[in-house]
Amino acid sequence: MNIDNKLKNLPLTKSNPKTLEVLFGKTDLIPMWVADMEFEIAKPIQEALIKRITNSSFGYEYKPTSYFKAQKKWYFNNYKIELNKNHIVYSPSITTTITILIENFTSASDGIIIQPPVFMEFRDVIRKTNRRITKNPLKLINNRYQIDFQDLKNKAKLEKNKVLIICNPHNPVGRVWTKEELKQIIEICKENNLLLISDEIHKDIILFNNQFTSTLQFINNYEKIVVCTSEAKTFNLCGIADSIAIISNDRIRNIVSSTFKKYNLGRTNALTRVALEAAYNNGEYWLKEVINTIEKNIKSIERELETSKIELIKPEGTYQVWLDFRKVYKDTKEMFSHLTENSGIGLNAGHWFGREGTLFMRMNIATSNKKVTDAIEKIKKAVANNKLK
Ligand SMILES: Cc1ncc(COP(=O)(O)O)c(C=O)c1O
Repeated sequence: MNIDNKLKNLPLTKSNPKTLEVLFGKTDLIPMWVADMEFEIAKPIQEALIKRITNSSFGYEYKPTSYFKAQKKWYFNNYKIELNKNHIVYSPSITTTITILIENFTSASDGIIIQPPVFMEFRDVIRKTNRRITKNPLKLINNRYQIDFQDLKNKAKLEKNKVLIICNPHNPVGRVWTKEELKQIIEICKENNLLLISDEIHKDIILFNNQFTSTLQFINNYEKIVVCTSEAKTFNLCGIADSIAIISNDRIRNIVSSTFKKYNLGRTNALTRVALEAAYNNGEYWLKEVINTIEKNIKSIERELETSKIELIKPEGTYQVWLDFRKVYKDTKEMFSHLTENSGIGLNAGHWFGREGTLFMRMNIATSNKKVTDAIEKIKKAVANNKLK
């Protein structure tokens, strides 16, 4: 996989000195935190973008049939999902969609169930909309995270809880929920009339022969499901890609669509459209290479950590690894500052994903094998110098 050697010249969030100072207290770090890739984007996407930029002007655009055809083919070939054009709502970002869903389908102080440790924006959106966070924490059993279904049932029954947000594949722990697990989730939502928001942004990065199942496969059984997804992560297009919400229920979709209309959020970005159409039509080979590289990186980490006290929670999907430092440190804040200072690598502290992530760290491995192994070496050295435990 080619690494983009021009990254240093780009104003990327992950290396923004101001952000690094706020989060890590220093700026001279190798940033391996934000979930975007360091790979050069697929050639067909580059070519399509160059062609679009050099050929013409940028008037208002709509999405032509060829765009939808490409998108439909992608979903059918990869997930056997028959996308219905009428069920898609385009959204600038998944977080925007979740905010709009919460504001329209719950009231102030209603409870929203999340499964920490989990993508922190879920928690932030719930707080910003003045709703309450109800936690259904994941359980770590034999180095694999599991859903606590009994706890989920108990919380779903409570009148105040109106929505469940799941993340599949799960960021940061890397689980790809099985069909059986999803079936149980749907049953619980159905029994308790919960709106299920299924964030499937990481669906395309499925590792080691695991099988991704979309909650869309259960739509005939339960209609109160909104799938939020995007190919931004998949094709390293976070700086330009948008997202979609797939909503089969007419009432829910109409309410969401009219809110998007109210705020005029439905505009087509010419470059997003061109990039995604090229990705859907000709990006498959590139994605396979990415997945091979990620798997290779994980195998290297496994080898590197064999004799270490740091445990790898092996991901089934996503391009992050979740590292367990519980045998090394006692205090999560001390761990974070000690590791940051002594390794020089900028990782996400596990507690950013909720206190259930205490003494864990998330590392982005969508980069070269050399960079990943060097970083692990540095982390191991820092750990070896640790006198905090
Ligand atoms: C699970 C999950 N959802 C959503 C996002 C962000 O999506 P958006 O930028 O479209 O809000 C991320 C980014 O890391 C993510 O991990």
